[in-house]
Amino acid sequence: MILVLFGPPGSGKGTQAGLLAKQLHLAHVSTGDLLRAEQKAGTALGRKTKALMNRGQLVPDEIVRRIAEKQTLKLLERKNGMIFDGYPRNVSQLGDLDDILKKAGAELSLAVSLEIGDGKLIHRLTARRSCPKCGRVYNLHSHPPAKSGACDACGEKLIQRGDDRVGAIERRLEDYHRQTKPILESLRRRKMLKKVKADQPIPSVTAKLTKLIEAWRNDFRLA
Ligand code: AP5
Repeated sequence: MILVLFGPPGSGKGTQAGLLAKQLHLAHVSTGDLLRAEQKAGTALGRKTKALMNRGQLVPDEIVRRIAEKQTLKLLERKNGMIFDGYPRNVSQLGDLDDILKKAGAELSLAVSLEIGDGKLIHRLTARRSCPKCGRVYNLHSHPPAKSGACDACGEKLIQRGDDRVGAIERRLEDYHRQTKPILESLRRRKMLKKVKADQPIPSVTAKLTKLIEAWRNDFRLA
């Protein structure tokens, strides 16, 4: 199964993709995480994209395609299913993803849009903290660490993402509505789009997604 999670910044794509990947033994591809890993490693690509990302701007399609393709083809050799979070981001990237999957003999199965109003997202995102060592993600309001400022798993000092400032969040939201939302119409026409309300507690959202995936699997078996 190849699942794509859509949703505005802060809707919970990364959180849900991580939980579902573990639960269903699927690979998880997040282009945001891949780009941040390049920055952390200090590569030329990381240096080139850092300023853009901190301003909340999208990275050029050809760069994202390169990293997404490499990771997808590598992981699909080992796992027979995958969840994309943060990719594709515009109609041209949707075409790129279709091409990449074709190379691997696969195709998109299901797309889910996490639905939540913009008003709640600034409150959520300015409270996000993450662990630079093990990657765990926290939220000062909904999911705080046990000890203030430190990762529960490894004790590392938690950090705030450079693009979780109000100005950058507003820019990311604008891009989501202008560039990413048109993909949803295209997927709706392909009859693979489902919607889930994302302004509910994390386990409720996971349960709804799991149900949709199970329904897709049952239909697939019957087809
Ligand atoms: P990316 O990392 O993909 O960021 P994003 O799409 O803006 O999404 P976020 O990671 O901010 O939010 P999320 O929906 O994953 O929410 P999360 O689960 O973390 O991209 C970053 C940048 O990289 C882009 O701006 C761009 O520059 C570049 N980039 C990446 N992909 C690209 C592409 N394809 N093309 C071009 N450029 C690209 O949750 C957020 C917070 O809320 C957390 O604190 C979490 O604990 C909390 N939370 C989650 N769910 C709930 C809930 N149900 N209730 C309460 N709190 C919750």
